[in-house]
Amino acid sequence: MSSTLTGQGQRAKISERTLRTDRWWVAPLITVVGLSIWIAYAMTRVLMQKWYWVEDYHYLTPFYSPCVSEGCFPESAEFGRFLPDQWFIPFAAITLPFLGLFRFTCYYYRKAYYRSFWFSPPACAVAEPHKSYSGESRMPLIIQNSHRYFFYAAVVISAINTFDALIAFQSPSGFGFGLGNIVLVTNVILLWAYTVSCHSCRHITGGRLKHFSRHPVRYRAWGFISKLNAKHMELAWITLGSLLVTDFYVMAVAAGWISDLRFIG
Ligand code: FES
Repeated sequence: MSSTLTGQGQRAKISERTLRTDRWWVAPLITVVGLSIWIAYAMTRVLMQKWYWVEDYHYLTPFYSPCVSEGCFPESAEFGRFLPDQWFIPFAAITLPFLGLFRFTCYYYRKAYYRSFWFSPPACAVAEPHKSYSGESRMPLIIQNSHRYFFYAAVVISAINTFDALIAFQSPSGFGFGLGNIVLVTNVILLWAYTVSCHSCRHITGGRLKHFSRHPVRYRAWGFISKLNAKHMELAWITLGSLLVTDFYVMAVAAGWISDLRFIG
């Protein structure tokens, strides 16, 4: 290793890319593999346009909610069917872009893919290969600042997912309750936890206040959200998993690979 100190306020010129001796590359590698698998699965599923709806129990996978294509089963389309039925238009095309952008601009995911996909930088104290860094203050990355608006869209979509989970307590004879309901409700609770733990939500709740003592309700909400916010990274990954499990379960029941485990109805 060789290094020389340059002028005051400048970095030491170190010839090695990093002096770290631990396996700093493991975390970015896991991120690349995990996100790539998830994106490939999600893309495949939204373009399949089948096995998304279980007629008997009103199970609708979140990847197709709300189902607004003319190709949707009429009973699954609680909000109408107004998009043309084309193989390249996902059945939930009005919400998926917002959900995708909500996650894409998420503060945690930014950190994850800046490090793992763009090596910018790949880890703390590991030099990045890029020559310059302009941050998020100019195009195109300044668009990341629109995250707060995608948060509002995510709240609406979480409400729709909640509605889906509630109307799924059905059976051909009336009220019903099965393993699918537990899967759907668990997923919705986790989605709310991820959405509410958003940094933008924390700022909306408690930001710009000069005196918490004059806003006790907002202070309490801010305190609760701050605790959730500390788990935002975990919730980001857990909800990717819960979405995948929920979609796969609905697909498996809809395709007839398994039967839903019924407790009532
Ligand atoms: S910061 Fe991650 S969803 Fe807002």
